[in-house]
Amino acid sequence: MNSKIPPIPSSQITPKQVYLSRRDFIKTSGALAGGLLLAACGAAPQPTASPTLPAATLTPALTPTAAASATPTETPRPSPTPLPTDELGDPYNSFEDITHYNNYYEFSTDKQEVAKLAQDFHTSPWQIEVAGLVNRPGSYSLDELQQRYPPEDRIYRLRCVEGWSMVIPWLGFPLAKLLKDVEPTPAARYVRFETLSRPDEMPGLKEPHYPWPYREGLRLDEAMHDLTLLASGLYGGELPAQNGGGLRLVVPWKYGFKSIKAITRIELVAEKPSSMWSEISPREYGFYANVNPEVNHPRWSQFSERRIGEPFRRHTLLFNGYADQVAQLYTGMDLKVNY
Ligand code: MTE
Repeated sequence: MNSKIPPIPSSQITPKQVYLSRRDFIKTSGALAGGLLLAACGAAPQPTASPTLPAATLTPALTPTAAASATPTETPRPSPTPLPTDELGDPYNSFEDITHYNNYYEFSTDKQEVAKLAQDFHTSPWQIEVAGLVNRPGSYSLDELQQRYPPEDRIYRLRCVEGWSMVIPWLGFPLAKLLKDVEPTPAARYVRFETLSRPDEMPGLKEPHYPWPYREGLRLDEAMHDLTLLASGLYGGELPAQNGGGLRLVVPWKYGFKSIKAITRIELVAEKPSSMWSEISPREYGFYANVNPEVNHPRWSQFSERRIGEPFRRHTLLFNGYADQVAQLYTGMDLKVNY
């Protein structure tokens, strides 16, 4: 996919003046919004939203972003190499927004606190175990994986189930490459992922309401799809701790909660694995979690989204805009039932 994509035109990189004035605008409007932040993915442990209020009401387009609270700095950090744009041609979000507006419950439920709390989290060395129904199980360091599968630039949209989105320039390699090398046995039908638990460095793990560790799962064919990425970097550099470093999953056509961070274990299994969110609230966080504007979250509409950095909401696209690439994975399935 990558090789066909032209380098990002300079016209799509936010010019400094526009960027700074946008920050001022967000800062002013953020003050008006008065901290009306949507409950993060976690619904059951801390319900904050009225069951009848749609997300659009709870998160006005002017909700403050990370940029609003940060001290003004320079333009987004330039990448060492020209980055491709994605196929819908959207400019990517600033490094500041991507790294200071994060969902990462192992650190905090406050998106704007995560970067600070994760600053001492050790992402190196990083070790990943691949186990379960495979002929060649193994334990790999991130360095080994990066040598074996050189990181590629991938610009993906990320749509959170909460109703916000970003465009992020990742560095990573297709999960399929690793899976092929470990040789799944014929009995393997799903892939289960697990996040590291290091309570000394992850203060959120002390929160007893969540059934830690964070876990996620994909069907094997979803995991083998070329869009499914194991990311170890962004914006041309290393993957910051708050974004899931050492290594995270990125599944761009699914809600962001499927893109599990700080993975230390990948296991091939026969049965559909449960995930942390589906255990907390299966009705709200289904196994498939494909982005779908026609299937509402029980407590809010999924019809539109707030792209971080933009003043107005935009329509959410089926499969987050990746339908041409992934719709065939779900042929014959009722997406309203299999949400
Ligand atoms: N992975 C772990 N381990 N813990 C989390 O809390 N949050 C998920 C996902 N992966 C989460 C996680 C959610 S809800 C989203 S929207 C994305 O990470 C956010 O990724 P970002 O902070 O890099 O934008």
